[in-house]
Amino acid sequence: MSMTFSGQVALVTGAAAGIGRATALAFAQQGLKVVLADIDEAGIRDGAEAIRAAGGEAIAVRCDVTRDEQVKALIEQTLAQYGRLDYAFNNAGIEIEQGRLAEGSEAEFDAIMGVNVKGVWLCMKHQLPVMLAQGGGAIVNTASVAGLGAAPKMSIYAASKHAVIGLTKSAAIEYAKKQIRVNAVCPAVIDTDMFRRAYEADPRKAEFAAAMHPVGRIGKVEEIAAAVLYLCSDGAAFTTGHALAVDGGATAI
Ligand SMILES: NC(=O)c1ccc[n+]([C@@H]2O[C@H](COP(=O)([O-])OP(=O)(O)OC[C@H]3O[C@@H](n4cnc5c(N)ncnc54)[C@H](O)[C@@H]3O)[C@@H](O)[C@H]2O)c1
Repeated sequence: MSMTFSGQVALVTGAAAGIGRATALAFAQQGLKVVLADIDEAGIRDGAEAIRAAGGEAIAVRCDVTRDEQVKALIEQTLAQYGRLDYAFNNAGIEIEQGRLAEGSEAEFDAIMGVNVKGVWLCMKHQLPVMLAQGGGAIVNTASVAGLGAAPKMSIYAASKHAVIGLTKSAAIEYAKKQIRVNAVCPAVIDTDMFRRAYEADPRKAEFAAAMHPVGRIGKVEEIAAAVLYLCSDGAAFTTGHALAVDGGATAI
């Protein structure tokens, strides 16, 4: 079954690397115009150039998702360039190595919550009015399996991803009758820079990460991109308010 998309324009945050970049490329391969947003300007420029080199349409917009005026400007630039916004993948996120809960600092709490929760909230706050005005759209937010259960030594990160699911479900209900669908994707461990920073330094950690997944390996960025595209596609027309685990069976244990 090939995926079909009624919309034309997709926005991806955290698009300079990892899951975001793979998803931006996947949207472009489906013929959509793509806006790549990130604080890493070189990374998004490179991604947009790769899309254009392959015959697609894309622009790169520098945006810190924790800043209201920058997110507002991102949506304005999207509309100025392409005239609409059909799909938004709010994916920018950070993880900071943490100890047990009592060892965490206020600065870590504010940093993680700022990007992972406030960033997603601000993005939806500015995307939803556009989708309302044009009569529909679909949003996917990146949560994590850490948003579905405990994540020892990652308590602030886990709290932030639970919050993403809370924002997702609440927005889904609020806009369900307005033809706007809002879902979350919950990856387990995926092979990205974030994974390498957290696990690769210690080979035992990498082995442990693979073993956490009943399929016996960590995931690939393309496997998350495929899930995001499905949630945006016409095939998911009856799916909203859902947190989809894409986790090699990790949450089934
Ligand atoms: N890699 C994993 O194992 C994994 C697992 C579960 C969930 N996730 C989530 O997936 C998402 C993408 O992570 P990734 O693994 O691709 O990581 P990554 O570090 O490769 O990419 C994250 C991107 O977000 C950008 N970013 C960070 N702060 C930003 C800000 N304030 N404004 C705009 N952009 C910002 C970074 O520059 C980077 O390009 C994150 O939300 C992460 O929490 C990752």
